[in-house]
Amino acid sequence: MKHIYQAGSNPNAPVLLLLHGTGGTERDLLGVAQHIDAEASILSVRGNVLENGMPRFFRRLAEGVFDIEDLKLRTEELKSFIAGAAEQYGFDRHNVVAIGYSNGANIAASLMFHDKDVLAGAMLHHPMVPLRDLQLPDLSAVKVFIAAGDNDPICPPQETNELNELLTGAGASVELLWESYGHQLSRSEIEAAKAWYRKMFRS
Ligand code: MLT
Repeated sequence: MKHIYQAGSNPNAPVLLLLHGTGGTERDLLGVAQHIDAEASILSVRGNVLENGMPRFFRRLAEGVFDIEDLKLRTEELKSFIAGAAEQYGFDRHNVVAIGYSNGANIAASLMFHDKDVLAGAMLHHPMVPLRDLQLPDLSAVKVFIAAGDNDPICPPQETNELNELLTGAGASVELLWESYGHQLSRSEIEAAKAWYRKMFRS
């Protein structure tokens, strides 16, 4: 997969896996990652699917309607990519924390829905429920931060609550931040994600 890897100055810090939103690239979240942990290594990936020229991590049939077969395939593909990158770059694949926005948050959630140890944690900015009717693995070692907007036209509040319940029900530790915004990534939610991350992974 097209990506950027930057080795950090602190080998004990998690590797930050950056997953952009629809129409984004592997460059979008570099500034956010630098702000959250300037010492961490970064693996930033570009989604392999194109929708009218816009990169995504999996196909959708319509706005908010996902192609579940493709989502499963792409989740597996990303999981193998992370394992391969860990070998290539020599990082610990059990110490990966995702930062995902929108479509990128959705595939990060799908990684956790399918596997208990691909991600040690995730900051999910405006995620949806990636898929339903799946037995989630035991996520009791996984830490998740969710930022949501109560005026989000793409992800309604009940879907955020459903995602929180599914992850919590599988044993994950979840912190949920509500803001009175829409689907955009706000400065204040990045600050909240940073505070959460420092507490969970760097204290
Ligand atoms: C998705 O398709 O993953 C969600 O609708 C969010 C987005 O627009 O990327």
